[in-house]
Amino acid sequence: MAEENFDKDYWNSKWENAQTGWDIGSPSTAISEYFLQVENKNVKILIPGCGNAHEAELLLEEGFKNITLLDIAPKACEIISKKFSHHEVNVICEDFFNHNGKYDIIVEQTFFCALHRNLREKYVEKMASLLHENGKIIGLLFNKDFDKAAPPFGGNKEEYRKLFENKFEIKKLEECYNSIKPRKNTEVFINFQKRNINPKNIKYENKHGHFR
Ligand SMILES: C[S@@+](CC[C@H](N)C(=O)[O-])C[C@H]1O[C@@H](n2cnc3c(N)ncnc32)[C@H](O)[C@@H]1O
Repeated sequence: MAEENFDKDYWNSKWENAQTGWDIGSPSTAISEYFLQVENKNVKILIPGCGNAHEAELLLEEGFKNITLLDIAPKACEIISKKFSHHEVNVICEDFFNHNGKYDIIVEQTFFCALHRNLREKYVEKMASLLHENGKIIGLLFNKDFDKAAPPFGGNKEEYRKLFENKFEIKKLEECYNSIKPRKNTEVFINFQKRNINPKNIKYENKHGHFR
């Protein structure tokens, strides 16, 4: 059987048919707790593959001012555009991999697991390119495998460490102690900080073939 393409049409039909079983109905506690201790309310926040974007409700309540929501499915974007029509929230209907911008914090909530496994390295690259120096990915990843040919695609801590550690400092990658009941013992909380590129470490070759 040909491998399914998890593209805009795939996701939009899920939204059109209200097949949104991934939606936990509120922001996850671990993500909420993280943001409750962020003092600077002007940080630029991106939520890719945001779906119903429950996290944005919490962020607005807490006074965060610079929130961008991004989803590939037009139906999801229609829903959240209505939901947040009275708020200062940026809604973008676009493929994450085509998005351009620079953020301080990117929220990961069941987006990574929605992407085909062969996009994982590209996801890491793209996340790094969307973050300012020292910017962070904050959120949850599954710590289990689903052994299915369709999303969600799971993983484990070691796999994630190997995948992210070149571009990110792994500040936290630990079992989540406050998951919702159906996800208990199946998630890790992550706080990955983009590594600084120290200009002193970049070597330039001069016309004589010497590096300085
Ligand atoms: C499993 S759902 C999670 C939605 C939401 N984060 C939540 O936890 O309720 C994955 C979401 O990612 C969106 N999506 C999938 N591939 C995408 C891509 N390449 N770029 C942007 N959004 C994408 C889908 O439309 C869907 O809304």
